[in-house]
Amino acid sequence: MAGGRTNVVFGAGNPNARLMFIGEAPGRDEDIQGVPFVGRSGQLLNKILEAAGIERDDVYIANIIKCRPPNNRTPLTNEIEACIPYLGRQVALIAPRVICTLGLPATQTLLGIRGSMGSLRGKMYVEGDVKVIPTYHPAAALRDPKYKRPIWDDIQLIKREYVKA
Ligand code: URA
Repeated sequence: MAGGRTNVVFGAGNPNARLMFIGEAPGRDEDIQGVPFVGRSGQLLNKILEAAGIERDDVYIANIIKCRPPNNRTPLTNEIEACIPYLGRQVALIAPRVICTLGLPATQTLLGIRGSMGSLRGKMYVEGDVKVIPTYHPAAALRDPKYKRPIWDDIQLIKREYVKA
């Protein structure tokens, strides 16, 4: 399952973060550097955070899958299941107040519900002490700029909750 990887990409950021981002899986650049969201999606995420006045150094960033899937394909259910205990430990240790899930696999995994990104985003899901706010993956906005606006709207909601947290 993890055979093709160069590095395990566990997560990066502030271990005391009140805000955590959870993406899908490492891509090529992340696999090489061992750090999440350093490639094109990461650069767009950096721009979005900067525009929203959120310091990347203040947040924690992880993925549901810790190893790059071959050819960047969508993670398989058994891969997600294999990595879930690590993600669970990470969330427990960081204990963020707000989690932003980036894209459908992360959103469905965290919330344990099905649905399209369009139907799941734009809302806040209260899970115990944590507020989960899903948005589109930055890669979606790289493919089609129409996703920039909803991502921006969701980031405003995230910022509001983060400032309060
Ligand atoms: N896409 C993700 O979901 N995670 C990364 O770390 C990089 C790209």
